Amino acid sequence: MATVREGKRAVAPAGESRVHALAGRSVLVTGGGGLIGSRITARLRTAGARAVVLDRLDAYEPGTLPLLGVDPAEPDLVAGDITDRALVRTLLAESDAVVHAAAYADVAACTRNPGVAFESNVRGTQVLLEEVVRSPVRRLVFASSASVYGDRPQRDGAERRFTESQPLAPLSVYGNSKAWAESQIRLMLADKGVEHTILRYFSVYGDPQVPKKDSHSWVVAWFAMHAAVGHELQLHNGGRQVRDFVHVDDVADATVRALCRPEAADETLNIGTGVTTSIRTVAELVREYVADVTLAVAPRPEGDPLGAGADARHMARVLGWRPAIGLEEGIRRYVEWLARTPSAVPAWLSGSTSLTGVG
Ligand SMILES: NC(=O)c1ccc[n+]([C@@H]2O[C@H](COP(=O)([O-])OP(=O)(O)OC[C@H]3O[C@@H](n4cnc5c(N)ncnc54)[C@H](O)[C@@H]3O)[C@@H](O)[C@H]2O)c1
Repeated sequence: MATVREGKRAVAPAGESRVHALAGRSVLVTGGGGLIGSRITARLRTAGARAVVLDRLDAYEPGTLPLLGVDPAEPDLVAGDITDRALVRTLLAESDAVVHAAAYADVAACTRNPGVAFESNVRGTQVLLEEVVRSPVRRLVFASSASVYGDRPQRDGAERRFTESQPLAPLSVYGNSKAWAESQIRLMLADKGVEHTILRYFSVYGDPQVPKKDSHSWVVAWFAMHAAVGHELQLHNGGRQVRDFVHVDDVADATVRALCRPEAADETLNIGTGVTTSIRTVAELVREYVADVTLAVAPRPEGDPLGAGADARHMARVLGWRPAIGLEEGIRRYVEWLARTPSAVPAWLSGSTSLTGVG
């Protein structure tokens, strides 16, 4: 299919993902045992690639792994740490490309345990990069985050949006570790024959997401599970904060496209819908499916960003793609999945009395 030219950039028309280029290729997916990584792994295998997962497998209770489709006995799943240089070197020796999604991925946990965040998100990334440049790998896609922006969106007309070119001002240990990793990837892979794509995912949700204990993130799962067990939903700051919710299936599609498309080489892209939704609206959408759920107002925690949407224009141009699943549809799918899968609710949550969610 012919490409169309927009400004200086050649982009493929919508619909052309070039995933056929992955058939027979070998892709290492770090963090492939987590929510997003497992979905990316499934997409890669459907496209005919060999996807090898490297994951510590300790982010969730063992009972959550089958929900994610993760089988620790599977031969192409390696239970190990990205800081294990010898292991990383061995796996990269057989890889054509890398999706780097392994991270200590919870904002609140990173704040509580900055040393743990440093080990995975900074030192682990450093080990991976040092080994990538001496391996056959020619493309690396990095799972970064909108948290690199902090809380200073640019104004685009009346809208508050985060734009790829604006200065970064992370508010959290987590966001700072992602901002560091982005810079390090650009610096270390420049002129080394390894193309990179940095993807700044916004608020990822969708089944089979399971909240983490003492986390403030993942509000769709958080509210849906609390509502399902009959708890009230507390809205920090009255739920006025906004987020750009992007479904995990769309995030996996975007990531696979970023891996295949020549236009994505050495680019940094927001991955979001461009639509902002308040936390209160999420609670109200969840409440439509669950009888007798009450909403309560709680104070705004320190450091909780007001939020903004993604400027998704660069993403759309470079990937020739936009997310397909709207939030109402995604919440409906999540609630239906939860009704079919009540065992997904972790024991700590069903017995919990602390019921807040922020993003
Ligand atoms: N979920 C979101 O809303 C969101 C938003 C922006 C960015 N991200 C990023 O996307 C990626 C995937 O996030 P997720 O939501 O699937 O989280 P997740 O916790 O489900 O997955 C992360 C995986 O990384 C693994 N991991 C952590 N440290 C490791 C290490 N040192 N060695 C090997 N494996 C390790 C964990 O075991 C886990 O399976 C992460 O990099 C995260 O920071 C997520």
